[in-house]
Amino acid sequence: MILIKLGGSIITNKEKPLSPRKKTIENIVKNLKKINEPMIIVHGGGSYGHYWSVKYDMHTKPRKYSVKGVSIIKNSMIDLNKIILDSFLKNRLNPYCLPPTDFMTGNRPILRKIKEIEKIAKSGFIPVTFGDALWYGQNKTYILSGDKIMTHFSKILKPRLSIFALNEDGLYANLKTKELIYELKNEKPTISKNTMDVTGGMTRKVEEALKISKMGVNVFFVNGNKSERIVKAVKNRKFEGTLFRGKRNG
Ligand code: IPE
Repeated sequence: MILIKLGGSIITNKEKPLSPRKKTIENIVKNLKKINEPMIIVHGGGSYGHYWSVKYDMHTKPRKYSVKGVSIIKNSMIDLNKIILDSFLKNRLNPYCLPPTDFMTGNRPILRKIKEIEKIAKSGFIPVTFGDALWYGQNKTYILSGDKIMTHFSKILKPRLSIFALNEDGLYANLKTKELIYELKNEKPTISKNTMDVTGGMTRKVEEALKISKMGVNVFFVNGNKSERIVKAVKNRKFEGTLFRGKRNG
């Protein structure tokens, strides 16, 4: 089984509020069709969830955020999720929509529910979930990033691979020359901060990728604009992107 995160920056235009990148989504979905292995899809918020989260000053730390803001963020994620689901159906894939309220309680994953998602994936559906604004408890709410969902699922399901489709080729050793890092073995790269992103942008992705690789799961960062690279990563063909090699103890 494999896990694939479709980053918000790939499925939406982050420069413009509420703008899906329908062609890119369509291309990705067409390539996902070539994968003959059970998979689970997680998608991000991009210019939907993040746009409203910034507007309502909502973050990943549980707090008493604006109730109206939470409703609006959740609504916008449903809108974006619907676009993804429609694209799957149009391309004859069978998505099974799972908002994170289905498998999270507060900020903890529900083991039994997540194990069930694996069964759903293995019976021919493609479970699709997403980062969202969630109830925490004691009148508090928080933003759960899709990257965090990848970590929870990886820990419980131990997928063969976890893939992050990004709007970049992978991690660059040098931002100016775009020299790609092909493989990272547990060392932590330095990343410039992105303040527009309430869940921490690339920094968060790298943190989660390192956590997942330490569980012994290989993690790939690939360019979702060249979505055939997702298929190559899955099929072990000449891979272009960054690999965080799965390794325990260190
Ligand atoms: C964010 O999910 C969800 C909301 C802001 C509601 P992610 O943190 O996974 O989104 P991207 O991939 O960075 O856009």
